[in-house]
Amino acid sequence: MKKFQLDLAVEDNCMVGPGVTLLTLRSEDGLPDMVAGQFAEILVPSAKVLLRRPISIHFIDKERNTIGFLIQIVGDGTAALAALRAGDSVNVLLPLGNGFSYRSTHVARPLLIGGGVGVAPLLFLGQELAGNGIIPTFLFGGRNGELILRKEEFMKYGNLFMTTEDGSAGERGFVTDHSLLLDSESFDRVYACGPTPMLKAVGHWAREHDTACEVSLEHRMACGIGACLCCVEDTADSGNVCVCKEGPVFNIDRLKWFH
Ligand SMILES: Cc1cc2nc3c(=O)[nH]c(=O)nc-3n(C[C@H](O)[C@H](O)[C@H](O)COP(=O)(O)OP(=O)(O)OC[C@H]3O[C@@H](n4cnc5c(N)ncnc54)[C@H](O)[C@@H]3O)c2cc1C
Ligand code: FES
Repeated sequence: MKKFQLDLAVEDNCMVGPGVTLLTLRSEDGLPDMVAGQFAEILVPSAKVLLRRPISIHFIDKERNTIGFLIQIVGDGTAALAALRAGDSVNVLLPLGNGFSYRSTHVARPLLIGGGVGVAPLLFLGQELAGNGIIPTFLFGGRNGELILRKEEFMKYGNLFMTTEDGSAGERGFVTDHSLLLDSESFDRVYACGPTPMLKAVGHWAREHDTACEVSLEHRMACGIGACLCCVEDTADSGNVCVCKEGPVFNIDRLKWFH
């Protein structure tokens, strides 16, 4: 897929959870086609931060020519992105990597599992699936209910189930413990994004239930285009590959985790 380097205007940037901002950028000239699960490398407007930061595409609004990013503030780069204000200009390189396979694989009953800010690419995926008449089921986990982000937005596209470690929203426990949903429904594909222990648990659950599963990995990245070799993952079929170029989304059958 062709990559573009674009200067986009900040339309809005507002906090939507503890330490999490929603950055909305607008293009005057339209946005290229993008697949859910792909990401952008955003140039950080700070002299302290040299490398672009990889951030998943959270939503696309084709009518308004806007693109959204859900950003958790963890260091200087994300703090500088959170400080952007309406009218500022941001340089982005996109779309990068390979997204979820929904455009090339038949799916009828998808389960979208997210943890923390890992829910980010699943809103765009939900938009895309719903646009094709497929109602996704979302299953999100967090330490508490406040950390499950943008619930109302996700509920526009599908059904939302939650687990929290303190029991303050949904069922108590981890996503793979959600008995009401997982014991009563069947799914033909799982798409997941979140912390690695969650992805491994989800992958094992999918294997046990004979369900196809794709996970989005969030390795530390620099160039984002396969040039610096700093984001390598060992795969069963091709050995070491760059997550930024071959991923970030992988079918779990390819990952050594499950071999
Ligand atoms: C493909 C991809 C998509 C991503 N999508 C999103 C997104 O939609 N929203 C979002 O908030 N973040 C996302 N991230 C993570 C985000 O890129 C990092 O949090 C960001 O680069 C940190 O930059 P910083 O300068 O603020 O922090 P730094 O100063 O670089 O790091 C601060 C702390 O965060 C840790 N850290 C940095 N990057 C990562 C990482 N990739 N995984 C785990 N720990 C890390 C560092 O080890 C350090 O402890 C994504 C990462 C990848 C690879
Ligand atoms: S980030 Fe440079 S090769 Fe992946």
